[in-house]
Amino acid sequence: MAKKVLVIGQGGREHALVWKLAQSPEINKIFAVPGNPGIAGLAECVDIGAGEVDKLLEFALANKIDLTVVGPEAPLMEGLVDIFEENGLKAFGPSAAAARLEGSKVFTKNLLKKYGIPTADYEAFEDIDAAKRYARTYTAQGKAVVVKADGLAAGKGVVVAKNWDEASRAIDNMMRDRSFGKAGEKVVIEECLEGEEVSFFAISDGKNYLPLLAAQDHKQVFDNDEGPNTGGMGAYSNPPVYSPKLYQQVLDKIIGPVIEAMAKEGCPYKGVVYAGLMITREGPKVLEFNARFGDPETQVLMPMIKGDLFPLLEAACEGKLVGQAIELEEGACVCVVLASGGYPGDYEKGKLIEGLEKLDSDILVFHAGTIIDKGRLLSNGGRVLGVVSKANGIPAAIEKVYKEVEKISFDLMYYRKDIGKKALKREV
Ligand code: AMP
Ligand code: GLY
Repeated sequence: MAKKVLVIGQGGREHALVWKLAQSPEINKIFAVPGNPGIAGLAECVDIGAGEVDKLLEFALANKIDLTVVGPEAPLMEGLVDIFEENGLKAFGPSAAAARLEGSKVFTKNLLKKYGIPTADYEAFEDIDAAKRYARTYTAQGKAVVVKADGLAAGKGVVVAKNWDEASRAIDNMMRDRSFGKAGEKVVIEECLEGEEVSFFAISDGKNYLPLLAAQDHKQVFDNDEGPNTGGMGAYSNPPVYSPKLYQQVLDKIIGPVIEAMAKEGCPYKGVVYAGLMITREGPKVLEFNARFGDPETQVLMPMIKGDLFPLLEAACEGKLVGQAIELEEGACVCVVLASGGYPGDYEKGKLIEGLEKLDSDILVFHAGTIIDKGRLLSNGGRVLGVVSKANGIPAAIEKVYKEVEKISFDLMYYRKDIGKKALKREV
């Protein structure tokens, strides 16, 4: 009892995690590094960067932190969890070796192939000419092809090329011009899958897992999925595409097998399994895995968890998920991200945010890019706030969230007007 928790990160995802953990009767203190003004209402924010692993370790040891929850992927890849565990600290997230599930597309595709887990056909290349020859086998048949940099490339390392010109430009860009540095030393060239995209989240202790639920992100900046990709402009939980049959397929063919495969490969996976899936006519196939919670998806997941999240995260760290259960709420959540006009390109900061006090009490607002300056709440990033409603279904949640969003304003505020629309199409 009276546990101390450290949450690493500063976005809407971390605000949602802190909001959920703050409800735990087992926790008496939450620290967040570096946190944000929204998180500051629930936790003590400490000015250490999410990537400053040595300072984080020093802080966690000095403050006798019982559990550290890692938000973003970068500290995972740098081995934060390994270093914390070597020092006797519990940290929820995968080791650096297991985080390759997100950090290396070549590693993951080879793992999926070896263990027969459904994914797009592909080949991995270190040689630019060979990569191009393989890409041409698709484009010569008039098929699109997907070019992926092996490593992390700030969400820009995947190009869905509709024709040869686009494919060859993407390969040159990654392998010859090294636009993403070392991340483009190797590439994966793969079949373009058709279907509906959905993300599925589960928590693993290395051997066993607890399924959370599915969510759908809206990556592109403009309505109808147009314009450049962003971190995510909105999300909803419990997408209607996710039938009980599909759910079972995802668990039996993807989530269970990948956890087993990672253990067999000697790098058991502990933490969040975030599977990006394409629901094709042949069933669900893996597009990618992430080694962390999604943002904004976490903002529509946390309010759906009925009980206490803390014991589950702690049990995952101790390898004791067997016998645990996650109880979920009925209905669904919808999150609309309020962004700075211009994002994901150039945008202005420092705009006064108004209207939050007018919101209905059952609306949640998670801060992403905000700052307090002389007592005033100002915008301070591309994604500024996530506004979340929960209702008995997606249509009601959409109606409510947009009614509330209209009460909030800041100069050049921009948001998508069609979050959840895809789900409505399916429901009618
Ligand atoms: P990834 O980072 O691998 O998830 O790729 C980013 C986005 O590219 C995904 O969310 C999909 O929209 C798209 N994508 C990736 N791989 C494929 C594929 N094989 N077929 C179609 N679209 C894809
Ligand atoms: N919303 C996409 C991500 O968290 O990667």
